[in-house]
Amino acid sequence: MSDDSNRDELVIAARRARENAYAPYSDFAVGAALRFADGTVVTGANVENASYGLSLCAEAAAVVRAMNEGHRGGLEEVAVIGSGADPVTPCGRCRQLLFELADLGGTDPVVWCASDEEAVSARLSDLLPRAFGPGSLG
Ligand code: THU
Repeated sequence: MSDDSNRDELVIAARRARENAYAPYSDFAVGAALRFADGTVVTGANVENASYGLSLCAEAAAVVRAMNEGHRGGLEEVAVIGSGADPVTPCGRCRQLLFELADLGGTDPVVWCASDEEAVSARLSDLLPRAFGPGSLG
């Protein structure tokens, strides 16, 4: 499979996940999709709360689901899609959560930051340089 079709497939999975977003307060639905080395794709969407600060991002939902399904590393590619015209980049907390999962397998995933119009890519290490991780605890 070409890189392009990998990307398209993952962005489509993130867009499909976005349909399950619960975002009545911000009205900003986000979907995320994680692709692992074994080909598995795990998705998530943001889940907001009437106590606004408790809201969970799409990437966090996907990371938690993946780890609860037993994934520990092997994270090769990520797609995140928001609701605006501009591509969404993961928030700081989500970069950290993605890093922990990736670092367990020593990968530096490509992150596709998407809108319905376009997708731009970045390495996780560019989004979160000099990351604090499992190895930082000594
Ligand atoms: N959001 C995400 O799901 N992922 C991000 O990386 C950025 C922000 C969500 C949180 C909140 O539900 C909504 O977008 C508006 O901030």
